Amino acid sequence: MALISVEPCTLAVFGALGDLALRKLFPALYQLDRAQLLHADTRLLALAREAGSAEAHLHSIETHLRRHVPAADLEPEALARFLRRLSYQHLDFLEGEGYTALAEQVPAEGPLIAYFATAAAVYGAICENLDKAGLAERTRVVLEKPIGHDLESSRRVNDAVARFFPENRVYRIDHYLGKETVQNLIALRFANSLFETQWNQNSISHVEITVAEKVGIEGRWGYFDKAGQLRDMIQNHLLQLLCLIAMDPPSDLSADSIRDEKVKVLKALAPITGENLATRVVRGQYIAGYSDGQPVPGYLEEDNCNAHSDTETFVALRADIRNWRWSGVPFYLRTGKRMPQKLSQIVIHFKETPHYIFAPEQRLEIGNKLVIRLQPDEGISLRVMTKEQGLDKGMHLRSGPLQLNFSETWRSARIPDAYERLLLEVMRGNQNLFVRKDEIEHAWSWCDQLIAGWQRSGDAPKPYAAGSWGPMSSIALITRDGRAWYGDI
Ligand code: BG6
Repeated sequence: MALISVEPCTLAVFGALGDLALRKLFPALYQLDRAQLLHADTRLLALAREAGSAEAHLHSIETHLRRHVPAADLEPEALARFLRRLSYQHLDFLEGEGYTALAEQVPAEGPLIAYFATAAAVYGAICENLDKAGLAERTRVVLEKPIGHDLESSRRVNDAVARFFPENRVYRIDHYLGKETVQNLIALRFANSLFETQWNQNSISHVEITVAEKVGIEGRWGYFDKAGQLRDMIQNHLLQLLCLIAMDPPSDLSADSIRDEKVKVLKALAPITGENLATRVVRGQYIAGYSDGQPVPGYLEEDNCNAHSDTETFVALRADIRNWRWSGVPFYLRTGKRMPQKLSQIVIHFKETPHYIFAPEQRLEIGNKLVIRLQPDEGISLRVMTKEQGLDKGMHLRSGPLQLNFSETWRSARIPDAYERLLLEVMRGNQNLFVRKDEIEHAWSWCDQLIAGWQRSGDAPKPYAAGSWGPMSSIALITRDGRAWYGDI
């Protein structure tokens, strides 16, 4: 029996035949339904511009659902219930007339949740049409990323939405905030006094955040080439992770308390400009190489590519936070496509003991590390130093884990997809896991100054072979400070 009760609502997915909706949103809604987390009266509306019959489109949604939900989770009864809730309506998002028909489909009870899985350019028009159809008052809007391309364009999108919706009914998605282990960062930090006293520049030497993907760009070249890895990943996912690691304890768990603390971190980020650009940031672009032993093309050889593009598919950088807690503690961020494995991981490196008494050749291995693995194999491990066993080992040290692997420790508990949690929280009216307008804007202004620096300097991305950990200069970025990327990978 579910512990959480959720009120009935109507959830309308705009862009219901798009990749995100088919791959992520409908499977997540199905899983919520299967877990008894949707109210019996909740309705799901698929809205799309594509021509064709409603039956054909509903059939296509079901086909994708069967493909993207693990076979073991496809239960006939749950599936039938889910499909009974779902209806389809053809809607031209820019035309007001269709919204009258939409309003007729929305029952008087419960809020309307309007999920915009469309290009941000049409968010404003959808909001205006919802308002004209008399729906705005009872609607929560969910905005997918990317919200804009830079500070100015993100303001345009946010302002267009704000004309009709107050901030407390706007839910901006960063799906990393819905991941189980990201949620756990809050519990780890603020429910364990053990860490809080250590969580500052007195005890921590540096922090690494790696978000690596094995895939290349494939079918998304058109979108990705206009964005690049800095806008696509750093501006949102990696900066959000940095904020959760670096923020001060909020006074409570309310959305605004947490978001106020995150904004303080973003405001304290030192801009990377001038000479620092060359030493603190590395842009890369993958060239042909190997993935799982198979040859794969370079970024400039993918289908429908522009062979002269200088868009980056990899970024490594050193970020510094100018406040008491983090002064002198670099945060090394690294993210790229076509890396050797899919891996999202945060490593907190603790400082060495003040006086070292063991064998000098072991000194480099010394130091506690807290490794927080977001994916795959979600878990947390604290690397501690112990003595190697055996009479012949003397005082030879060994670094071993105190480990918490979520799937092994709690075998029966399924780790939900980020979208399941996020959709559930929108239905509950909880904005904790959603990004406030000022957070997005501070993140954009920090990234904008970096991009402007690249443009001024004409900095071209450094090549790296597909299947490698990025350009050599990303290694130099951290070794220059006498450190190395955490070697367990
Ligand atoms: C998206 C980016 O936000 O996150 C994609 O646009 C990226 O380029 C994806 O592949 C990664 O998400 P995850 O959950 O697979 O790590």
